[in-house]
Amino acid sequence: MAAPLLVAENVSKTFRMGSVDVPALRDVSVALEAGELVALTGPSGSGKSTLLSIFSGLARPTAGRVCIQGADLSDMAEAERSAFLAGTCGYIFQSFNLIDVLSAQENVELPLWEVPISRSERRARAVEMLEKVGLGTRLNHRPAQLSGGQQQRVSIARALVRRPKILFADEPTANLDAQASEQIMALIQELNTANACLCIVSTHDPDIVAYTSRKIRLLDGRVVA
Ligand SMILES: Nc1ncnc2c1ncn2[C@@H]1O[C@H](COP(=O)(O)OP(=O)(O)OP(=O)(O)O)[C@@H](O)[C@H]1O
Ligand SMILES: [Mg+2]
Repeated sequence: MAAPLLVAENVSKTFRMGSVDVPALRDVSVALEAGELVALTGPSGSGKSTLLSIFSGLARPTAGRVCIQGADLSDMAEAERSAFLAGTCGYIFQSFNLIDVLSAQENVELPLWEVPISRSERRARAVEMLEKVGLGTRLNHRPAQLSGGQQQRVSIARALVRRPKILFADEPTANLDAQASEQIMALIQELNTANACLCIVSTHDPDIVAYTSRKIRLLDGRVVA
């Protein structure tokens, strides 16, 4: 059997607040394979966002290690790590994190600036991805001119435009109504099955959990199920 795509070994994260230590994750170990669609659940403050930010290399664990495609993130220098992660992973944030002054198309083009392709290829890929998420007629809209669900779809297009092997989504439907949430999950599901992309979605929503093939439940920073 091939090695798992993403492995966390004994990951702990403690935030130091003045003289108090706040343990956010305690000894988390998981191994996730290509093609899995994983729900990350648990009450508010249980460590979901912290775990996703460590998985994605945006934060460092206090102890333990994370390997992606067999490469230990902590062995890499900063620049090497960010280039590796940008080429391997996509992120969808709860708060969209779109750039206000850029159009939808320009937002989606951003991750492609580091890829050695022509300007026309970059534009074509961004347009193709926006069409895929149903926003082919909104290319020149700025985030403020789009609804919440549309902004989230732009952020999904941006996360997917480099065709990542792993997608991290932190409560991607938290601000959306049921219909928009369904559309977003259908997109994530399509990516998951079409490209065997490993998708890890944190959520409170039981309807979203129903889409997934595996559930990881956190409580107080520990995996409990
Ligand atoms: N930057 C930080 N500094 C200090 N403590 C933090 C920081 N980030 C998170 N924490 C603490 O770590 C714990 C886990 O937080 P985290 O944001 O991962 O929870 P969560 O499961 O994502 O919650 P929610 O469902 O509300 O988004 C919480 O107790 C939180 O207060
Ligand atoms: Mg969170």
